[in-house]
Amino acid sequence: MNILLTGGAGFIGSHTFVSLVDAGMRPVILDNFVNSHTAVLDRLRAITGHAVVCERGDVLDTAWVEQVLRRHQIAGVIHFAGYKAVGESVAQPLKYYHNNIGGAVSLMRAMEGAGCATLVFSSSATVYGDPATVPICENFPRQHTNPYGHTKLVIEDMLQAQRIAHPEWKVAVLRYFNPVGAHPSGLIGEDPVGIPNNLMPYITQVALSQRPRLQVYGSDYPTPDGTGVRDYIHVCDLAEGHVAAIKALFAQGESFTANLGTGQGHSVLEVVRAFEAASGRTIPYQLGPRRPGDVAQCYADATLAQQLLGWRATRSLQQMCADAWRWQSRNPNGYR
Ligand code: WQD
Repeated sequence: MNILLTGGAGFIGSHTFVSLVDAGMRPVILDNFVNSHTAVLDRLRAITGHAVVCERGDVLDTAWVEQVLRRHQIAGVIHFAGYKAVGESVAQPLKYYHNNIGGAVSLMRAMEGAGCATLVFSSSATVYGDPATVPICENFPRQHTNPYGHTKLVIEDMLQAQRIAHPEWKVAVLRYFNPVGAHPSGLIGEDPVGIPNNLMPYITQVALSQRPRLQVYGSDYPTPDGTGVRDYIHVCDLAEGHVAAIKALFAQGESFTANLGTGQGHSVLEVVRAFEAASGRTIPYQLGPRRPGDVAQCYADATLAQQLLGWRATRSLQQMCADAWRWQSRNPNGYR
């Protein structure tokens, strides 16, 4: 099975590439490398022992995407390509609406032209906004609190409309919680551009003394230790969830929406302690004010994915920290 990974050179895409090869499938990367590095391709070749097929270009170029789908006889697509910085999306909403929603429309039209109707979409727990309760189930109300989350919500609705108009389309919407960690080889991992927005890459840079300390955003939340609680999931578990999802679409043909999380929440300070234990490094931190837009708690009810896909996350917070540290300590400047 040939599978197209749009944004396949990115953090989650590259890990999914490895899992697809492990599962005997043939992934093809489509990436414009505005938010990823070509060095990933050599790393993927080293990990898998296979040549890496990559098409460099923009998912917004519909005619070109259709050619790629035909050229590689693509049976299914996993759509990762999109901008994902919440803060940037507030400052530059049109950049996000154009790229994320426009890119999804372009991809879907190219798929129609090439006769490909199997799609896994990289969505996000951010579509739940500030949940009334936790853990979060897939039938919880959706609400967006920023343009980035809005693009995910709109694309989910577009996919629903496409499925109603064209029942032959098989779609899996996967709502990620907080992906962290790295492949145990230490060859691929998270490599944010500039100052990391997310907790784990910020911690790993503090561990390398690239940053003086961690600013903890809020210590007065209604949580056990006052700091924000999230559902951190190992990126390799997440990648394996994508393999299970596309296999289910090919096998059963039923469309679905599923949370990809562990079902367990951890606070910021719990992550700091776990990372210190895993790395042997001390992480200096300072308790500061809440970050605008943050919610107190966000973690998944992960039972539906297990029921539908026979998949569940297995890697511990300790493994997430150890693998994140191995990647960062062996690649202090990421892929650069
Ligand atoms: C986690 C916790 C922060 C940084 C976002 C997006 C989501 C997804 C994952 C794309 C929170 C705290 C963080 C720091 C801190 N992205 N924190 N100091 O905000 O849960 O989710 O990234 O799909 O869509 O919304 O992740 O890692 O930014 O924050 O205290 O320097 O760590 O307050 O409690 P978040 P995060």
